[in-house]
Amino acid sequence: MTKVLSFISRKGGTGKTTNAINLATMLNNLGHRVALIETDTNYTLNTLRKMEVYKSSAKEDSLFEILGSEDSKIASDLKAMRESDSYDFIIVDSAGKTTDEGIKKLCLESDAVIVPTSLTQNDLLVTYQTIVDLSPARELKEDLRIMVLPNRIHSLTGSKTIMDALSNLDAHILEVPVPQKNLFVNFSTIMAEKEYLEIAKEILKELNHG
Ligand SMILES: Nc1ncnc2c1ncn2[C@@H]1O[C@H](COP(=O)(O)OP(=O)(O)OP(=O)(O)O)[C@@H](O)[C@H]1O
Ligand SMILES: [Mg+2]
Repeated sequence: MTKVLSFISRKGGTGKTTNAINLATMLNNLGHRVALIETDTNYTLNTLRKMEVYKSSAKEDSLFEILGSEDSKIASDLKAMRESDSYDFIIVDSAGKTTDEGIKKLCLESDAVIVPTSLTQNDLLVTYQTIVDLSPARELKEDLRIMVLPNRIHSLTGSKTIMDALSNLDAHILEVPVPQKNLFVNFSTIMAEKEYLEIAKEILKELNHG
């Protein structure tokens, strides 16, 4: 059965794209059938994929699909993709400027929402608001899983500090944080970053057993 995982936040720059692509390439690497949908109208990931294919010997049709969509049609795109039963996971990288209505429609077609956040005061406030803004969707879809993904975490920050910073959020806090590291930023749409494995496993664990 297809599982839809959507990266959402009310503000740009929290790490949606970085984490969406690292998760997608890792799940693909683990042998799952993956599609990634970007709703950023610049279609950055699609362009990166084209460049990577051009530079390497990779065959585009042997790679996971990167598709473009937008607020107004993402829900119907997801419905059709679910029905085709061609994917184990569909990862959605939503745009920071998504409207309330767009977020609600996307959530109703998602199994899980992942909200990446750093621990800066501004990101924490935006994350708090993002979780509040998810309540209309949550009321309509009780089994929607909402996960907060600590992102850009300094290597010396302990898990208690992270949990304390995020404890007022009404969502599941993922226990494996994403460190602040260039290796997650210099991502590829073809090759998975092996350090992302533990993070991907934690997301799957919460998706399946949470
Ligand atoms: N784990 C990380 N380590 C280091 N840098 C990171 C990490 N995650 C994100 N960044 C950096 O933070 C910036 C924003 O990340 P990203 O583009 O993934 O955010 P976004 O939520 O997709 O933003 P937008 O809403 O504008 O699309 C980028 O410069 C990215 O390289
Ligand atoms: Mg982005």
